[in-house]
Amino acid sequence: MTDPKKKLSTEAYKGVRDFYPADCAIEQYIFGVWKETCKKFGYEEYMASILEPADLYRGKTSEEIVNEQTYTFTDRGDREVTLRPEMTPTVARLIAGKRKTLFFPVRWFSTPNLFRYERPQRGRLREHYQLNADIFGLPGIEAETEIISLAYEIMRGFGIKDSNFEIRINSRKVMNYIIGTLLGQSGEQARKTAQLIDRRSKMEKEVFEKALSELLGEKDALLLTLLNSKNFEEFVSHLPEEKELSESFAEIKALLGALNALGITNIVFDQTLMRGFDYYTGIVFEVFDKNPANPRSLFGGGRYDDLLDMFAVEKVPTVGFGMGDVTIRDVLETYDLLPKNLPTAADLYLSAMDKEWTGYVNDLAQSLRRAGVRVVVDYSEGKVGTKVKNADRAKIPFVAIIGEQEKTSGQIKVKNLSLGKETALAEDKIAEFLIKYQSANEDQSTNTC
Ligand code: HAM
Repeated sequence: MTDPKKKLSTEAYKGVRDFYPADCAIEQYIFGVWKETCKKFGYEEYMASILEPADLYRGKTSEEIVNEQTYTFTDRGDREVTLRPEMTPTVARLIAGKRKTLFFPVRWFSTPNLFRYERPQRGRLREHYQLNADIFGLPGIEAETEIISLAYEIMRGFGIKDSNFEIRINSRKVMNYIIGTLLGQSGEQARKTAQLIDRRSKMEKEVFEKALSELLGEKDALLLTLLNSKNFEEFVSHLPEEKELSESFAEIKALLGALNALGITNIVFDQTLMRGFDYYTGIVFEVFDKNPANPRSLFGGGRYDDLLDMFAVEKVPTVGFGMGDVTIRDVLETYDLLPKNLPTAADLYLSAMDKEWTGYVNDLAQSLRRAGVRVVVDYSEGKVGTKVKNADRAKIPFVAIIGEQEKTSGQIKVKNLSLGKETALAEDKIAEFLIKYQSANEDQSTNTC
């Protein structure tokens, strides 16, 4: 039993974050770019609970996540419940639930928090927020083109230069053909090969080659030749002229062409990109920062046409991605791209010279707030100098201290703390004055947590 007298730690649970206001402002900036960009593409926001029945993930997503990374518990009614480790099965459930009444294509986005029992490290935590954007109901390559250009516009929205990041693409269909038909693998063995290919970039060359030869025997040479190909053309040249393959190659070429036509050229074919989830059926992609300080993917996504199979409804062709808040924040810090002026708590710091004027101050604050000004009231009876210092410490740009003179003259002196300049304004002109200043100085959304 815990000792009730024992003092508790103020640390957060391992691998999760507390967002004090300064961090919250950064988080809201990230969410702001995500949401604005999705809305520009006509995506609508949805939300769902963090609790899902454990069965939603079993055998349908990723073995690694289900067996090693989920937070699952039994509730008081004996149901197995999982804290969602990803949003894709949830959004598939939502679409399946309204399959008959939705008008396709459906474009949706969400910014859920997700839970994975990982070893906490740079870029990987146990709770992260992830933008999910998915387009449902388009079978053709225009869906991949739109989803990848949305990802690209988000990177631009954060001010990241094309030369600093890379979009890597591959095709699950091609890789399934190689592993299944050419290497003759299925089931657990096929999965192991896919996982090994996925880990290649993180392994020593010799260790990788040894593991590959143990898995594939003599067939490892063919796979090594394919994996070592320098580009798409060389990779294709090692593969047979099969209809199934040539269709997939045509798809990759069409996608590259369409993205190039949109001016998106920092895109490469990467035959080692596998994506850990079982549900992908076609093009898969990830986005990486080129700076070695941030080796983990920023985005991951692809086409998953069959996931709705798990519900008793007709399938819907779908493409989507997830982009995490942890990795993008690291990247924005690396390139010094976080906005310098994050939103302050208020526009105006209002206080009474002494208690007598508190009622008037409260009235004025109420009417200014109703007019759209953010006002913080200082109820203390301290010196004017102290009040101004407090406003400055809170980074509130304007101060007004109300005394008899202000009340009787109806002229309030509003002081701009950064310029040290005072402006005398009639009560009903203050809101207009502050709002004008606010919109001229705003370089980002004023969302707060
Ligand atoms: P994912 O590759 O597991 O894909 O995650 C997508 C992104 O979420 C990663 O690129 C990374 O930015 C971030 N992320 C993932 N795990 C963590 C973690 N433990 N800590 C911090 N950030 C993390 C999916 O989840 C798919 N369901 C995405 C998707 C949506 N596919 C289609 N639609």
